[in-house]
Amino acid sequence: MTAINPVTDLSKDGDIAIVTLNSPPVNALSAAVRDGLAAGFRQAVADPQVKGIVRICEGRTFIAGADISEFGSQMKGTSLFDVQAAMEDSPKPVVAAIHGTALGGGLEVALCAHYRVAVPSARCGLPEVNLGLLPGAGGTQRLPRIVGVEKALEMVTSGQHVPARQCLEMGLVDELAPEGTLKQTAVAFTRRIVAENKPLRKVRENNAKVEAARDHPKIFENFRKAKARKFRGFQAPESNIRCIEAAVSLPFEEGLKTERKLFLELMTGPQSAAQRYAFFAERQANKIPDVPDDTATLPIRKVGVVGAGTMGGGIAMNFANAGVPVTIVEAAPDALDRGLGVVRRNYERSARGGRFTAEDVETRMGLLTGSLNLQDLADCDLVIEAVFEQMDVKKDVFRRLDGIVRQGAILASNTSYLDIDEIAGATGRLESVIGLHFFSPANVMRLLEIVRGAKTSKAVIATAMKLAKTIGKVGVLVGVGPGFVGNRMLAQRSREAQKLVLEGAMPWDVDRVLYDFGFPMGPFAMGDLAGLDIGWVRETSKGETLREVLCEMDRRGQKTGAGYYDYDENRNARPSPVTEKIIRDLRIRNGIDPRVISDAEILERTLYPMINEGANILDEKKAIRASDIDIVWINGYGWPVYRGGPMYYGDRIGLDKVLARMKAFQAQMGDDFKPSPLLERLAADGEKFLDAR
Ligand code: 3HC
Ligand code: NAI
Repeated sequence: MTAINPVTDLSKDGDIAIVTLNSPPVNALSAAVRDGLAAGFRQAVADPQVKGIVRICEGRTFIAGADISEFGSQMKGTSLFDVQAAMEDSPKPVVAAIHGTALGGGLEVALCAHYRVAVPSARCGLPEVNLGLLPGAGGTQRLPRIVGVEKALEMVTSGQHVPARQCLEMGLVDELAPEGTLKQTAVAFTRRIVAENKPLRKVRENNAKVEAARDHPKIFENFRKAKARKFRGFQAPESNIRCIEAAVSLPFEEGLKTERKLFLELMTGPQSAAQRYAFFAERQANKIPDVPDDTATLPIRKVGVVGAGTMGGGIAMNFANAGVPVTIVEAAPDALDRGLGVVRRNYERSARGGRFTAEDVETRMGLLTGSLNLQDLADCDLVIEAVFEQMDVKKDVFRRLDGIVRQGAILASNTSYLDIDEIAGATGRLESVIGLHFFSPANVMRLLEIVRGAKTSKAVIATAMKLAKTIGKVGVLVGVGPGFVGNRMLAQRSREAQKLVLEGAMPWDVDRVLYDFGFPMGPFAMGDLAGLDIGWVRETSKGETLREVLCEMDRRGQKTGAGYYDYDENRNARPSPVTEKIIRDLRIRNGIDPRVISDAEILERTLYPMINEGANILDEKKAIRASDIDIVWINGYGWPVYRGGPMYYGDRIGLDKVLARMKAFQAQMGDDFKPSPLLERLAADGEKFLDAR
């Protein structure tokens, strides 16, 4: 074995050279990796005894892509194109041996091998679109030449990681190696290629599939139409599509030029910068300064959920999906039946949509046990409470759970606003109590706010963070306080949205501005979806606010066919003359002379107070870092990832500008706009949230 450089080795198995890469954590294509690969190939090709070359990686994965941390700075060392050329033009067959994930530049390198072997657990994909990019090393030109235009379009615009067996069917992989035998299988495969004098296949020369697509120009138009909703606001999907179009209409080298041009446009644009930021921010959120990575975690083998309402059922589904048995306890048989029925229907809908099989539905349902007795949770490792949002009800449940569930087990609350410490106080195990705040629908939304109580132990925090990953969520650690991070900031936006409507805007004006900003829907449409009667009580309702009047009229949102909007039988929303009249009456009653409100004001009035509240949250140390707040908003509230999150957005606008607007609003409208001391400090020092320590 020869060390080519600190991350690359060259060894031989008879007449087959093996170029091995070992650059933890994910063998990303850093300058050292590119240098090592190019030199390894040069040496292997120059060695007269070598007849074929295997490219393999050590560690958890094959190359997971370009080194994203290098983006935006001057590239050093060997270029990726030179590495690819060294492989593709090698006079000796090159075989890529894939385990883990071959992603982005990693797959693009593998596509320059003459053949590819993978273990069944491997996955291949071009996920650049998720970073606001496109595959910039020939991926858009080579992929359709193997898998065809339609599959290539799907892969580059979804970024999906395709399992090896499917890759084999598509021709992306030539042979599967039994797990644990990748190196031997790849060497044997290469030897066979040499012995049988198989051709040195170059994907770039394989034009049949792209030529076939020339007769079907509608492919692109249809694809764009079908995906318009999903791609709204994003630049990268369209650029990816144009590259695949170029693969069809232009010769390979010309297609590469189009790819290069569009790649550079995206790379230097604001969307990719925001999406790359979000990629690292999400990983950063896992790092808790006083809870080291090696903190021992507790095993979670069985979970209990109390309450099978809107949230409890969805929460339980997360665990069943991950293969963890769950017992759900309800107060009454009909509520339990209803809750489990909803879960089953959700699973069946997924099965109909092709996401899994009817057998999977039964396997998952088989992991769920319904009960009317808290006693059945005695042997759980974790119990999550999702009963009514009332302190006395929650405390009663926790007091009882404390007497039932084995000592050492974790007791968690899904409360949206309540004080976790007060809830913990009902138990004799303060260190084992934590908030696990899921978002609705709990089986879909990626965010999990993990609320740290004053006494929550590090082991419990580490367990919760790990658990989030197990169930496919993004865990963000937050502190105790009304509404934690997400809902606390949301309250600012909701308040301003309601005020704007009284001052002169209509709900659909506010919604349109926020929708155009990139949110999936505005606050009023969201209210209609969630139900306007959440937290509304008929007996105490005074008909003083728009929401109260609507609820009193039984316009409670989509479920009643009307709310802020009117809905047709397909739940399509229309601006409502009824709502408009109520608003006009309320203005008269409150002596408000309506004015024309600009879109710019709507945006600033709804977003800047949120940014300001984010600053308060940071100042009060209820979030560890500004980027955690952004991750909350991207994953829990539909903040468009290509705008990086509210704190990132504030930084981009300039904190001095945000502060100036807050002060102007404060002068006009009072202390709803009181600037956060942190915002004032940072603006004065010319600093950014993301640099603040
Ligand atoms: N560049 C630099 N660092 C990377 C990286 C990359 N491509 N991919 C992952 N990392 C880092 C992460 O930041 C993290 O660092 P940390 O431990 O310091 O926080 C570490 O590797 C481990 O990553 P994860 O926590 O995400 O590990 P998982 O095992 O959960 O996931 C993965 C592994 C599926 C490979 C995931 O990291 C991933 O999706 N990575 C990005 C893949 C990607 O987008 N590739 C395309 C890059 S762009 C490109 O190739 C352009 C080309 O076309 C020219
Ligand atoms: P829900 O009213 O739909 O469900 C609550 C369920 O708890 C009911 O089925 C009720 O029968 C059951 N329940 C009440 N007391 C019980 C007891 N002592 N033992 C067993 N079951 C009992 O309420 P929802 O919306 O699911 O909310 C639950 C919790 O989740 C609340 O704390 C809420 O603030 C929080 N939450 C709600 C979100 C939402 O969008 N609905 C989002 C995030 C958190």
